[in-house]
Amino acid sequence: MALPLILLTVFLAVISGVGACSPSDKAALLALKSSLNEPYLGIFASWTGDNCCTNWYGVSCDPTTRRVTDISLRGESEDPILVKAGRSGYMTGSINPAICQLDTLSTLVIADWKGISGQLPSCITSIASLRVLDLVGNKLSGKIPDDIGNLQKLTVLNLADNAVSGEIPSSLVRLSSLKHLDLSNNQLSGKIPADFGNLKMLSRALLRGNKLTGSIPDSIGNMYRLADLDLSTNQISGPIPDILGKMLVLSTLNLDSNLLSGKIPSTLLSNTGMGILNLSRNALGGNIPDVFGSKSYFMALDLSYNNLKGPIPGSLSSSAYIGHLDLSHNHLCGPIPVGSPFDHLEASSFDSNDCLCGNPLRTC
Ligand SMILES: *[C@@H]1O[C@H](CO)[C@@H](O)[C@H](O)[C@H]1NC(C)=O
Repeated sequence: MALPLILLTVFLAVISGVGACSPSDKAALLALKSSLNEPYLGIFASWTGDNCCTNWYGVSCDPTTRRVTDISLRGESEDPILVKAGRSGYMTGSINPAICQLDTLSTLVIADWKGISGQLPSCITSIASLRVLDLVGNKLSGKIPDDIGNLQKLTVLNLADNAVSGEIPSSLVRLSSLKHLDLSNNQLSGKIPADFGNLKMLSRALLRGNKLTGSIPDSIGNMYRLADLDLSTNQISGPIPDILGKMLVLSTLNLDSNLLSGKIPSTLLSNTGMGILNLSRNALGGNIPDVFGSKSYFMALDLSYNNLKGPIPGSLSSSAYIGHLDLSHNHLCGPIPVGSPFDHLEASSFDSNDCLCGNPLRTC
């Protein structure tokens, strides 16, 4: 290449800012850094100099536009920096609203730092490019922003294991790209929105460990991609909708430790895709429907601590497999069915009922 051409190339590279990052992105990152305190690993020591797109720990940019697209800071990971330090991460401080200036951000992960407190900045809903918002395992408080539904590209929303309170905003059901929702172990109250089933792309809905009330919305039955529903340890009442048993890909259903009443829908037990079903610690009554069959395959079936009456259904013994069965603390009565699914079960599976008998309990 002739020398003038090289000079021209260098000149163009400099004016187009190759290697640099957007000054406004850099300012936003430095504001984020200034409000966080990570005392053990020194990850923010790398957040220095002009080029926030290169060698700033956890920051990535679009190679063409040189705008920041990813922030990924995980306090529990296989990352060499954590492995080398031989400890998990710890960070205090808060998430600076200046982060909302990063208007090309696609992934925001600030996860498992245990000590980050304050609110999730409400302006976060203005970052229209956001696809992944994962702030699990901190001490964030305050509410989920009312207009969270504006994040139309969001596929992952994980705020689990924080101290988020208030209600689930009604706009949440407008997140039409959402695949994974985890709000477990917070202080959320109020009802699950009646039109929750509008979240058509959702495959995991994890809301365990909150203070949710009201009943399970029937609309959930329309979520044809939902594989994992966890509403455990809330104050949800009313009956279990029949339609939950007709969902095609639902394989894990945890409704334990709520205030559910009525009968167990027979569809729930005859649904051959159901692999883990926990209805323990509710107020469910009636008989256990006698609808098991050779295609029933339960890794875990826990119906303990309810008001179930009558016999253990004979069809249960024709199931292909039952890994863990717990029918204890009910009012069941009669002989325990005989058959291979029962061979490995211990007496604790049948404890504290009215008058069960047969192996592994006393003979009838
Ligand atoms: C079902 O839920 C109860 C109560 O929340 C819990 O103690 C139990 O371990 C769960 N059962 C299974 C099989 O995970």
